[in-house]
Amino acid sequence: MTEKLKNMLEEARAELSGASVLEEAEALRIRLLGKKGQLTEILRSMKDLAPEERKALGQAANETREKLEAMITEKVTELKQAAQEAKLKAETIDVTEPGIAQAPGYKHLVSLVIDDTIDFFTSMGYTIAEGPEIDTVHNNFDALNAEPNHPSRDMTDTFYLNESTVLRTQTSAVQARVIAGQKPPIRLISPGRVFRCDTPDATHSPMFHQIEGLVVDEGITMADLKGVLDKYAKHLFGSELDTKFRPHHFPFTEPSAEMDVECFKCGGKGCNICKGSGWIEILGCGMVHPNVLKFGDYDTEKYTGFAFGIGVERIAMLKYGIDDMRLLYENDIRFLSQFK
Ligand code: DAH
Repeated sequence: MTEKLKNMLEEARAELSGASVLEEAEALRIRLLGKKGQLTEILRSMKDLAPEERKALGQAANETREKLEAMITEKVTELKQAAQEAKLKAETIDVTEPGIAQAPGYKHLVSLVIDDTIDFFTSMGYTIAEGPEIDTVHNNFDALNAEPNHPSRDMTDTFYLNESTVLRTQTSAVQARVIAGQKPPIRLISPGRVFRCDTPDATHSPMFHQIEGLVVDEGITMADLKGVLDKYAKHLFGSELDTKFRPHHFPFTEPSAEMDVECFKCGGKGCNICKGSGWIEILGCGMVHPNVLKFGDYDTEKYTGFAFGIGVERIAMLKYGIDDMRLLYENDIRFLSQFK
């Protein structure tokens, strides 16, 4: 038996020194020390021995087990270390390898027009005002001098949340808020979303964007309005183009006008963009109606003002030659990425 134990140690030592992978050391542990292992077998067979012999052999077997365990553990540690070193070597990072380029984002067309317009007007001292997309019937209609039966108030045009609250149909609602809360001088623009009960098609959307403008001060005249908006049209479409103001009607301005710019495509000769007229309508404007100013308790003998409303999608479509408004909302990256 003692001989057997000795041999077991010798064989294990030889086997371990040849082992090159962890699995071999583990297999040896199971074969010698496992439940059905050789050493366990020897210990089991001791029950048939005389007590004296059993004691001596028991001691020898325990010593052998300790030695075996120490040997195997040492080898396992060694192999684990070697495996770790090999792994680290294989995983070295080439810091000189070029990185994966991130495709940079770019602005949506609607944002391009809004940001460009903000730059234009803020460079002339205008500030930016914001108003909520959900507003009162008062701010969206009443304070803007819209008659009680004005067609735009109709349920078929306006999204009513309840009797007194709407999704604003125009950024002009911001005018009402500003006039009620601030004193002149006022020089502001207000970009934002507006909502109308429209079925989407090439030129309509239930949600679109406007930029409102409002100037109130002493001695503001129609000449100021024309000067500023003419400059804006030239900034957008080309300094060589003429503008003209056609009489129009808005409840909140008097007089009211629409501004046309000479067709930037044909220069005024007439083409498919200007529908043969040589002119393109780009915004609505006018001198602020005294009935609107009175909501701010302004002295309307002293203070006058002008206002304008720009349709952002319309400008974007004209400027970038887009023939269907829905392209602006579908967010197909192949479409949008053309306008960096
Ligand atoms: N709110 C008008 C609309 O939605 C646009 C507009 C026209 C705004 C004339 C104005 C203005 O401030 O003076 O059609």
